[in-house]
Amino acid sequence: MQRTLLLALALSGLSYNAIAQKARPANTHSVDERVNQLLAQMTLEEKVGQLNQYTSDRLATGPLTENSSKYEDIKTGKVGSMLNVRGAKDTRMVQELAMRSRLKIPLLFGLDVIHGYRVTFPIPLAEASSWDMKAIETSARVAAAESAAAGIHWTFAPMVDIARDPRWGRVMEGAGEDTYLGSMIAKARVKGFQGKQLGDLDAVMACVKHFAAYGAAIGGRDYNSVEMGDRTLWETYLPPFKAALDAGAATFMNSFNDLNGIPATGNSYLQRDILKGKWGFTGFVVSDWSSIKEMIPHGFAKDPAQAAEIAIKAGSDMDMEGRAYITSLVKLVNDKKVDVAIIDDAVRRILRKKFELGLFDDPYRFSNEAREKKELNSYANRAKARDVAKRSIVLLKNDGQLLPLSKNTKTIAVIGPLGRSNIDMMGFWSVKWDNDKLVSVYEGLENKLGKNTKLLYAKGCGITDTSKAGFAEAVATAKQADVVIMAVGEAYDMSGEAKSKANIHIPGVQEELVKAVQATGKPVVVLTMSGRPMIFNWIADNAKAILHTWWLGSEAGNAIADVLFGDYDPAGKLTMSFPRSEGQIPVYYNHKSTGRPSPTDLAGSYRSGYLDMPNSPRYAFGYGLSYTTFELSDLKLDKKAFVDTDSITVTCNLKNTGKYAGEEVVQLYLQDVVASVTRPVQELKGFEKVSLKPGESKTIKFVINKEMLSFYDQQMKWTAEPGEFKLMIGNSSDHITLRTNFELTDRSANQ
Ligand code: BGC
Repeated sequence: MQRTLLLALALSGLSYNAIAQKARPANTHSVDERVNQLLAQMTLEEKVGQLNQYTSDRLATGPLTENSSKYEDIKTGKVGSMLNVRGAKDTRMVQELAMRSRLKIPLLFGLDVIHGYRVTFPIPLAEASSWDMKAIETSARVAAAESAAAGIHWTFAPMVDIARDPRWGRVMEGAGEDTYLGSMIAKARVKGFQGKQLGDLDAVMACVKHFAAYGAAIGGRDYNSVEMGDRTLWETYLPPFKAALDAGAATFMNSFNDLNGIPATGNSYLQRDILKGKWGFTGFVVSDWSSIKEMIPHGFAKDPAQAAEIAIKAGSDMDMEGRAYITSLVKLVNDKKVDVAIIDDAVRRILRKKFELGLFDDPYRFSNEAREKKELNSYANRAKARDVAKRSIVLLKNDGQLLPLSKNTKTIAVIGPLGRSNIDMMGFWSVKWDNDKLVSVYEGLENKLGKNTKLLYAKGCGITDTSKAGFAEAVATAKQADVVIMAVGEAYDMSGEAKSKANIHIPGVQEELVKAVQATGKPVVVLTMSGRPMIFNWIADNAKAILHTWWLGSEAGNAIADVLFGDYDPAGKLTMSFPRSEGQIPVYYNHKSTGRPSPTDLAGSYRSGYLDMPNSPRYAFGYGLSYTTFELSDLKLDKKAFVDTDSITVTCNLKNTGKYAGEEVVQLYLQDVVASVTRPVQELKGFEKVSLKPGESKTIKFVINKEMLSFYDQQMKWTAEPGEFKLMIGNSSDHITLRTNFELTDRSANQ
C-alpha cells in the first residue's frame, strides 16, 4: 500500500484493517502455510533482514551502534524488529516505513515493559513479596493492555533469573532466590502479558530472559561469567524458564554471561539442545543487547562474522542492536559456512509470531491513538497498581504494636531523603515518564489524612550525603511531632542493569539520621526502600517499626499510607534473604547441611560458620509480619508412608488469633534426609495465602507427591528416592511451627 494512501487513511480515521478486510477475501490458510508462501518469495537479504533488530535511539538501554542508516534499512527490508519505539503515533510512523519495503513485512515493536507501562507497578522483586499470583498476573495484564494500546507487540519480560546475590543490581527485576516460587511467578507473569491469546489487542508477547544462569554472575558483578554445575543449572536455574515456556511464552532472550566458558548467546547446549530440542520451543530467541558481537571481547569470536556464525548455529534467531547478522549472514551463507536452512528456520519462527499477532492483516492494529488515550493511566489501572503495591510491602518489625498508626494523630513528621521523593518511587525499569503522576510518601499521607492532622517534613540528608548538616532541622521537626515516619534507602537508579554494588548498606549517613531522630524519644516508624535486599543492622536492632517498601510505582505513597494506618494489614514475605553483612553473600535459605553444620549458627568447635557473625541472614526467605497474629496447629497426615504412585495428604489449621483481618502465607518445606546426592536443608514445595478475619480459622491442605520429592540423581536422572523426608510448615523459612517426618517406600519392596 502506498504511503500517501496510508496517511490518507490515518487522517480519515478509517483503519487499514477495515479497508483491507473489504478489499481482500479472508485468508483461510494456516499460519504455517502463509509463512511458507512468504518465505518462498524472500531473497536471502530479506530473510536476514528479519533477523535484525535495531533500537530507536530515543530510549537506548545500552551502547548504540551507528544509527544513520536505520530508517533507510527499514524501507529496504533489512530490519525485522525495532525496540524502544513506543506510542501509537511513533510506532505507526515507523511501521509505515516498513510498508514501503518490497514485501511489506511488518516490524515487531519490542520494549522493556518490566513493571508497568504508563502506570508503574511495583518492581518485580517487590511484587514477588506478595506471594499473590493473581496480583502478579494483574500487574502484567495492565502493563500488556497499556503497552499494546501504545503500539507495542512484545515486552522483554519476565526476567526469571534466580538470584542469590543482592550485590547484583538486577535482582530487582526477578522473583528472588527460590526456584519453586520463581516458577509460579514466571507463569503468572507470562499469562498476564499474553492474556487469552496472542493477537488480542490487549496482549503482548512475553520474552523470558535471560537464558540462562545470568543471575549467578560471579561476585554479583553484572555481565560477569557464571561457573555452575549441571545439577544446579537444571535444579535451580532452569525450572522457571521451563515454567514460563509451559505457560506459552512466545519468545526467549539469551544472556550476556558465559556459562562454564561458553557465552550463552553462542551456547548450543542451552538454545538448541535444551530450549529448542528437549523442550520443543517453537517461538524465537532474541539475543541480548549486542550480545552476539560481545562474544568478541569475551574472547570467543575473532570478528563479527565469526560471532554471527556461532550465534545463528547455536540458536540465536534475532540480533538485538548488534549488526553482526545484517553485516555477515548473507556472506556466510554464500560462502557455505552457514546453511540457508538455519536461516529459514529462524525467519519462520519470527514470521509465525507476526502472523499470530495479526500484523499481516493490519500492521497498524496496535497503533491506535484513541485506544491509547483511553487505556493509559486510567483510574482503574491506577487502582490495580495501588492494590498490588500494598500487597508488596513487608512488615519487618513492629515492637509494641506501634503500627498501625491512628488517623487521629495530631502531628506527624515525615523525615528522610525519600519522604518527599516522587521519582524514586518508579524504580529502575519503569518506562521513564515524567514524575508528575508518582505519589510520594508525603503525598500519600496528605491524601489519607484529614485536616486535623498536621504534616511536617524535613529531609535530614540526601541519599548519598556524608554531611550531617541537615540533622538539626530533622531533629527539631521530629520534636514537634507525635509520630515520626522516616523514609530512607537507595535511589531508584541504584539497583537495575549495570547497578552492581559491593556495599549494600543503606547509603550515606541515613542510618545515622535515623539514630539522631530516634534519640528524641519520639515513636519512629522506618520505611526502608530499595530494589535489592539492603543491610541496616542498627535500624533492625533499634527501630520499633520497620516496613520494607521497595519501589512501589505510581501509587507508592497511597499504598504506604494504606498500610501505615491499617486500612490494609501488611502480608508481604521476603523472597530474598537480607544479609547481616556483605561477607555472608551468597546467603540463601535452601543451602546444604555440610558435614559440620553449626547448631549455634556460629563457627565454634570447627563448625561451618563465621567467627564474627551467625550464618543466618538478618531477615530470611519467607519472612514478613502482620498486624494480626496467626496460629498454626493440628498437623495431620493421612499416612506416614507412601509409594511413589500414591500421595500423602497433609492438613493443618490456621487461625487468626489477633485483632485485625489479615492474610498469612502458609509455607510448606521438605527435606530429603538421606539421598544419593546431598540435598538442601529445606526447600519450598507449596504455599497458600489465606485471608482470615479475627477469630476465623481455615484448614490448609497440601498434597505431597513423587514430583515434589524428586531431584537429579548421580546420573542426572530426575527421580525420587525411597527413604525418610522431613516436613516443615511455618510462616517463614526460619519460623517453622509444625514438623513431622514421612517416608517414601520402595515399590519393589512391596511386590
Ligand atoms: C538487557 C535486557 C533488555 C535489553 C533491551 C539489555 O541490556 O540486559 O534485559 O531487555 O537491554 O533493553
